Amino acid sequence: GRRIAVLASGRGSNLQVLIDAIAAGRLNATIAGVFSDRPKAGALERARHASIPTTSLRPRDFDSRAAFDDALFSHVDTVQPDLIVCAGYMRLLSEHVVEARQGHMINIHPSLLPAFKGLHTHQQALAAGVREHGASVHFVTSELDGGPVIAQARVPVLDGDDADALAARVLTREHPLLLATVKVLAEGRVRLRDGTVTLDDRPLAAPLQL
Ligand code: GAR
Repeated sequence: GRRIAVLASGRGSNLQVLIDAIAAGRLNATIAGVFSDRPKAGALERARHASIPTTSLRPRDFDSRAAFDDALFSHVDTVQPDLIVCAGYMRLLSEHVVEARQGHMINIHPSLLPAFKGLHTHQQALAAGVREHGASVHFVTSELDGGPVIAQARVPVLDGDDADALAARVLTREHPLLLATVKVLAEGRVRLRDGTVTLDDRPLAAPLQL
């Protein structure tokens, strides 16, 4: 199975889905380490509970973004990951660490990209008045939330939704979306070739709908 490194800043519910799928034999992979910019992240607790090695570094202990990223990714590199999954990792990544790992790093983002990049995506969706929202998994490139999209899941926006209600509806779909996407990546079926996502060696005309 492939070796996965997970980067996470928060509660780690997406990480938990991968942990549980591996434990249940539904994903043939190993989580080789979990890495965080927040020592108190719930994701680290979840990893320790599953006996996964963890590393957390504090950005304020470093002089620059590049110095922090170099340090964090020197730890990531020691676990020799085939795939790096950003699962609620909330820090911008320096261009050089991203470029060195193109095609090997993915991110889950809570919107139907290219709509609503950045933060507060559920508020952005409500403010825009869209009737459909969702989540995307994309290859990470140096453009924030701008890398090629692999797969998406769609949810309706309902009358009376606030950001929390919408976030909760999206999150229930993020979990199976991330798992299914990691699965096709771990099976080697999805790749990034010359900036284009391929499935079974054919270019994807549109993101997979999962
Ligand atoms: C998820 O909704 C994920 O899509 C989002 O953070 C949440 C993490 O939840 N990611 C981003 O906003 C990335 N910019 P989790 O910690 O429970 O997996």
